[in-house]
Amino acid sequence: MPEIKFYSGKTIPMEMHKVKIVQKLNLLPAKERLQKMKEAGFNTFMLHNGDIFMDMLTDSGVNAMSDNMQSAMLRADDAYAGSETFYRMRDKLEEIFGIAHLLPAHQGRACEHIIAQHFVKPGSCVIMNYHFTTSKAHVTRLGGHVEELVKDEGLVTKSTLPFKGNIDLDKLKACIEKEGAENVAYLRLEAGTNLIGGQPISYENMKAATELAKQYGIMTLLDASLLQDNLYFIKTREDSMKDKSIREITRMVADLFDMIYFSGRKFGFGRGGGILVRDEALFHEMEDYITMFEGFLTYGGMSVKEMEAMIIGFDETMDFDVISQAPQFIKHCVDELDAAGIPMVTPGGGLGAHIDAREVVKHIPAEQYPAGSLVAALYLCGGIRGMERGTLSEERNADGSEHIASVEMVRLAFPRRVFTLSQTEYVIDRVKWLYDHRELIGGLRFVHEPKTLRFFTGKLEPVSDWPEKLIEAYIAEFGEDQ
Ligand code: F0G
Repeated sequence: MPEIKFYSGKTIPMEMHKVKIVQKLNLLPAKERLQKMKEAGFNTFMLHNGDIFMDMLTDSGVNAMSDNMQSAMLRADDAYAGSETFYRMRDKLEEIFGIAHLLPAHQGRACEHIIAQHFVKPGSCVIMNYHFTTSKAHVTRLGGHVEELVKDEGLVTKSTLPFKGNIDLDKLKACIEKEGAENVAYLRLEAGTNLIGGQPISYENMKAATELAKQYGIMTLLDASLLQDNLYFIKTREDSMKDKSIREITRMVADLFDMIYFSGRKFGFGRGGGILVRDEALFHEMEDYITMFEGFLTYGGMSVKEMEAMIIGFDETMDFDVISQAPQFIKHCVDELDAAGIPMVTPGGGLGAHIDAREVVKHIPAEQYPAGSLVAALYLCGGIRGMERGTLSEERNADGSEHIASVEMVRLAFPRRVFTLSQTEYVIDRVKWLYDHRELIGGLRFVHEPKTLRFFTGKLEPVSDWPEKLIEAYIAEFGEDQ
């Protein structure tokens, strides 16, 4: 939706939907939040949702469904084999992407597991614009390695570049030459590049990169989990595409790739996943993994009710009004915080607003997890749950030293159609307060550190009594009950 004009001259984002079902929220008093954070080991993944006021951890599986999505659930066809729901889903995806073969899977990382199982061998290289945590873990688990070739400017947090997710074409060519094309398992381009701040790739860049890969006979794979945001940005930021419909753009993007996979927890606003395979012989080769790891070929671990909802969700993703909502709210949040001098990842992307923690809490050493500390502080000061996206989310180097992340961010996700503008204003307000009191925030250290994906279940403790001091200052400002 182009921004609605206000008589007052204001530009504020507008909800193009109305609320029909609500969930009551709970704002615990500040001291209780401190207790809950201690119990959670200063890890926002370990908090209970009932203790959270604004859950901005992720947009995964928590997007609001529409009336049409919910009513579609009633027609779900329960069958172990041959469910009509599956054929409807396959046909809808073929209509949108132009690829006929669908391997269903229970979520995005299940697709990554299957693709890696089929293509990655010890010593294989997988080239990406940028990794996602699970997409990399599946490759390294099988003895492969990941090369991330996003353009250098994609990692510069403060920027005005419209497509920071673009892959560097010179580096891509050099990498293929160095690794040898036969050792490159596939080129994976991630739409709406998650870990660098939900930043999009341009159509032109996807086209050039996939053409280059094809010259070397390398398979091309699109991670479409965040494609909805990327489509919005192609239409609004790529001049040559502005007159095309979202459906046309989607089809042009899809035509570039041999395979497309998605997390249906994001793409389709439901819960599930799938891999679209252009080549019929390859599709049949990969079917066995679905029956072995996911479920029968016509549900792949998904609930048929969710599948019906997603079928409608895919169509809604083709609606410009629907996919505009999150990027416009994110832009509002990023622009307000940026104008207040808070280091943000700019321009605002999809998925969420991203705070540059390395800049905000400069006094916290990289080994004490600046973003992990800031995200814990934000729960203490407002009941807002964000996600650490930095060194804590990395795995240690082979010698046990910390692998310092190239970007150190706190992500405040905007699940689609969930939060109102006043709730967004609350978040902006609390982030501003915290920024003004940033000197009170201290570091964290592990007390329980899992070997793989440690950020999910690890437990930490503060290096000093900084949480108590921070809560004291917060109560002095806002009172005991907030
Ligand atoms: N690819 C991308 C780009 C993702 O953002 C995610 C998940 C996945 C793959 C894996 O999908 O969760 O369904 O297994 N991102 C979530 C997030 C977890 O919070 O950003 P999944």
